[in-house]
This record gives sequence, C-alpha cells and structure tokens, in this order.
Amino acid sequence: MSGIRIAGTGRYVPDFIVDNEDFTKILDTSDEWIQTRTGIQRRHYARGEATWLMGQKAGAIALLDAKVSPEEIDLVIGTTVTPDFYYPSLASLVQEKLGCVNAFAFDVNAACSGYPYALDMARRYLCTGDVNKVLVVNAEVLSQLTNYGDRSTAILFGDGAGACVLERSEGRFSSFLRCDAANGYHVYCKHRRQQIPFYSDTEDTQPFPVEIEGKAVMNGREVYKFATKAMPRAVKGACEKLGVTTQQLDWVIPHQANLRILETAAKNMKISMDKIYVNIEEYSNTSSASVAICLDECIRTGKLRQGDLVCVVGFGAGLTYGACVFEYGVGGAGERV
Ligand code: ACO
Repeated sequence: MSGIRIAGTGRYVPDFIVDNEDFTKILDTSDEWIQTRTGIQRRHYARGEATWLMGQKAGAIALLDAKVSPEEIDLVIGTTVTPDFYYPSLASLVQEKLGCVNAFAFDVNAACSGYPYALDMARRYLCTGDVNKVLVVNAEVLSQLTNYGDRSTAILFGDGAGACVLERSEGRFSSFLRCDAANGYHVYCKHRRQQIPFYSDTEDTQPFPVEIEGKAVMNGREVYKFATKAMPRAVKGACEKLGVTTQQLDWVIPHQANLRILETAAKNMKISMDKIYVNIEEYSNTSSASVAICLDECIRTGKLRQGDLVCVVGFGAGLTYGACVFEYGVGGAGERV
C-alpha cells in the first residue's frame, strides 16, 4: 500500500485566552503548580464559537494551502469529542459550510487519539483508488465539558481546531492503533440523560459508575501511568512495522496532554526532547485537535523538511492510543515545499 502526502494544513484557535492566574481566582491552585505539573501556561477558549465553525475555519485554510478546491475533496473525516450535535456529524457540517459538494463525510471518535486514527483511515480510503483527496478536520471545544469545580482537571483543557488535506503518495507509511478498553473508566464524560415520561424506575447499566454527567472526569494518576507507557508503545509499534528505529525519526508530533508525560515517554523511547514537538504551554490539551495544531505550526515554521520521517502519536479516553509514521513531502504530483 502507498503512503500519504500532506498537501496542505490549517489551524484555528480562538482569541480569548485564559491563563493560569485566571484559575487562581476560581480554584485553590497556582501558576507555579500548573506549570510545574503540566507545562501549561495558558489555554484558548471559544466564546460562543461552535465546534463546526472552528473546524470550518481550519479546513478553509488547509484547502487554500493545498491549492485544492472544495469540489475536489472526495471525503471529509471529522474528529471531535465535543460535537455541536449528536447528529449531524462535525464532518457533515464542515462539508456543507466549505462546499465540498462531491464528498462523503463522517466523524471518528477516538478521543485524544483522533488524529492518528483519522490519518490511518484516510490513508486506507486513499489506497483503494476510489478516493483521491481527503480533508481531515479536528475540532474541539473542551471548555464546554470542563468541571470548573475540580482543580485537578479544570486547568488541563483548551479549545482549538486543525485540518489537513491528504493525497496518495509513494512515501512510506505505517500505523499502530490500539484500545485498552478495560481501563476506560479512568477518563470519561457521560452524556446527560433525560427522564422518560413512561417509567420512573431505572436500572443503571453503565459500564462503570458515573458520578457526574456532561463533565470531564479523570483519574489523573492512572491516566498519567497509562499515557507514559502507551505513547512509547505506539511509537515503537509503528516504527517496527516500518523497519526503522525510534532514533531514525526526525520528528515526533504528540498529543499535548502533559509536558511531563512527553518527557518521560521521550526518555523511554531514547528520543531527545529536541525532536518532540511541544506547544502545550500555549494551548493546553485540545484533545484530537492538538496534533493537528502542532503539525500545522511545525510545517509553517519550517521545522518539517522534505523527506523527514515523522511520527504523529495520540493517547486518551477509551483508553485509545495510536501512532502513524510517514515520510513528509515525499511522492505524488507537486511535492509540497
Ligand atoms: N492546583 C494545585 N494542587 C492541585 C491541583 C491544582 N490544579 N490539582 C491537583 N492538586 C493537588 C492534589 O489535590 C494533590 O494534593 P494532595 O497530595 O494533598 O492530595 C496533589 O496536587 C498531587 O495530585 P496528583 O494528582 O498526584 O498530581 P499529579 O502530579 O499526578 O498531576 C495531573 C495531576 C496534572 C492531572 C497529572 O496526573 C496528569 O497530567 N495526568 C494525565 C492527564 C492526561 O494525560 N490527560 C489526557 C487524557 S484525557 C484527555 O485527553 C481527554
């Protein structure tokens, strides 16, 4: 099977900034604690901007960057844990707003692993030959799920969106995707349920005890332990499939959950932190959008070079984890410069 070519990227992050000092006004916390434990300095919050709107803005920039018209897109894949609607999907809304009239559209929900999961799926469609151009849109408004009374989770999340246009290439590609569902209860957010008018006695058949509906719940220590193991496992797994070592990677672009997780995982993989892209200080954890925002920054600042071996890696609720390794800017008509 062939690989992928990133023909264009985009990102959109709301202007409104909430810094660590802002949290000291509502919670018993400090800038020093947050920075030391997480690496986060500030996060951007949507002030009424919908998930689809942020996705549309990032997607429009990616299309322009790729010099691809909306009509040329065959497939739109959305990733989000914060959709505006149960249905239609984020991808459907973005498809309509951008005018990708020839595309089919659907969402993938793999939480913070959304980026590698979507990339893997896009590449499989591209390999069939039926699909030539895919728009992947990753958008999150996590400020809507944040429990502002819980200092251990409230400070972690932000909002943002990223997007990319993908085509087939002759470049190398591998992916390694997994889900440790038995430990899914360590991080979740349950839909709010309504009272049904036809009965009052309800049997709770949830897979694990749910203390709160509609807000993020997390056992930080357990997720931390999981993440520091899952990230190296995914990166090494994808590298092994491609027959390369982790040291041969030019860049690792990880989900931005916690700087300490990235440092521990880097040590475990014997990869220098110089090769791990980090922007958590600015945006905090934006779930499936974080890798997309990083990738766009990395490309626009000229850090990624033609032929670089790049690994994108995510881990999060599910508990999902996964990585894709690919050659950047290789093969296909009109190589990206
Ligand atoms: N300010 C001050 N003190 C705090 C805060 C805060 N914001 N939050 C927790 N504390 C306190 C705790 O109450 C605890 O106090 P105690 O010792 O008196 O009980 C102390 O700090 C230490 O708490 P820990 O939970 O052990 O702190 P830790 O160093 O593990 O950091 C954190 C917590 C940042 C949540 C960390 O566990 C973490 O990053 N976990 C992984 C999170 C993650 O990866 N999430 C991504 C997956 S979820 C998703 O992406 C949707």
